[in-house]
Amino acid sequence: MNQYTVATLLEETKFQEVHIKGWVRTFRANRFIALNDGSTINNIQCVVDFENTDENILKRITTGAAVAITGDLVESQGKGQKVEIAVTNIEILGDSDAETYPIQPKKHTFEFLRENAHLRTRTNTFSAVMRLRSALSFAIHKYFNDNGFYYMHTPIITGSDAEGAGEMFRVSALDPKNPPLTEDGDVNYKEDFFGKETNLTVSGQLEAETYAMSLGKVYTFGPTFRAENSNTSRHLAEFWMIEPEVAFMDLAGNMDLAEDFMKSVITYVLENCQDDLQFLDDRLFNEEKTKPQAERSDMRLIEKLKFVTENNFKRVSYTEAIDILRNSKPNKKKKFKYIIEEWGADLQSEHERFLVEKHFKCPVILFDYPANIKAFYMRLNEDGKTVRAMDILFPGIGEIVGGSQREERLDVLKEKMSALDIPEEELWWYLDLRKYGTAVHSGFGLGFERLVMFATGMTNIRDVIPYPRTPQNAEF
Ligand code: 4AD
Repeated sequence: MNQYTVATLLEETKFQEVHIKGWVRTFRANRFIALNDGSTINNIQCVVDFENTDENILKRITTGAAVAITGDLVESQGKGQKVEIAVTNIEILGDSDAETYPIQPKKHTFEFLRENAHLRTRTNTFSAVMRLRSALSFAIHKYFNDNGFYYMHTPIITGSDAEGAGEMFRVSALDPKNPPLTEDGDVNYKEDFFGKETNLTVSGQLEAETYAMSLGKVYTFGPTFRAENSNTSRHLAEFWMIEPEVAFMDLAGNMDLAEDFMKSVITYVLENCQDDLQFLDDRLFNEEKTKPQAERSDMRLIEKLKFVTENNFKRVSYTEAIDILRNSKPNKKKKFKYIIEEWGADLQSEHERFLVEKHFKCPVILFDYPANIKAFYMRLNEDGKTVRAMDILFPGIGEIVGGSQREERLDVLKEKMSALDIPEEELWWYLDLRKYGTAVHSGFGLGFERLVMFATGMTNIRDVIPYPRTPQNAEF
């Protein structure tokens, strides 16, 4: 007798005795079990012969219960499925308290489900999102493996602030009530576990650069931490980032790589996750219907994904973008919260979304940003005021990728670090790369959860990671 998953069973054409385990999604008319085991968004219908089944067993078939079923796979009598199981034996593996089970077969709000994050993957929406998240991770590793990259594990505890933004979580083993002090009364980190101040990493880039300068093409894919207090639908304090780094590649090559990579991973899920995507496409369509006409997206989810894979990303310089924004209607009518007055302004999410959603109506790569709004390591252009930075902006998301060509000239890098008060002693090893065999190199960082948001049509980043970490929230 074959032990099947629901996914394999739904494709089976040989009518035979089968055995399956799963959780009851619904039990209707004392007869029809919709059974799911996580292998697919679809349920298998199991038909119970209630006249010949013990009443005590029937009572225990409730939503959420874990069951083992033996039965005959038969052509379905009803609509909606090709096959079903005529149950010959059912064993209750674990009861479910029907009165208190939070995941009832009805529509729950995402807020409610966030409070029950340990059970929310038992819903169609969250199981589909998490299967897609897994498929996207695989597609990312596959892309880099197929293209000659090495996967590198960068440290999670570091002593440097890669982005220079200072939004880090401190890692310390000192007694917070009674830390050792220096003569000046400051906490003496020399006595801490690592003998220096350390924090959770904000990016693996600097370490990835060291490996790119010997292995050629590397990438990281790991957890990243930022202590920025931004309670938005696009920010997490703990998120996953993918950071490729490539030797002998300039900014144009970096844009080509990022575009090809994004298209490839989205194509992978379009080809391999059809049932989940179709479900999420319908879900989003129904949600959009509840919004006023003017706020509705004119594309459905699958259409949007295909649009990205089939069209070139528009490449626009920061200077051009500022001109477009300055002359735009919302800027002139003061509809933007932050009015764009002059060159040098940092772009906010409202500006990025205007460019992508209203002006160009396609993914956009913005490049050559003003040096003083970007990180210290970016390659200075010949104009002396812009750097070879690039951000990729996606519809509905805004910035999804940030990257650059790196400053490979020792003297220019030292000057920049000195201007920003970054001590050379802290990054001596990073400077060494510019002393020994320095070369043009580039890379970028993709925020994994923002990609999952785009691919699933979910609008809050808390709903695309199993257990979100946000300000005032570290439950589970
Ligand atoms: O633009 P960022 O800060 O770039 C870096 O960290 C570079 N070191 C990358 C590199 O060149 N190797 O972050 C990259 C991406 C952003 O575009 C965004 O998608 C995501 O990481 N990101 C966040 N995602 C969720 N929550 C946050 N708080 C995020 N901060 C950045």
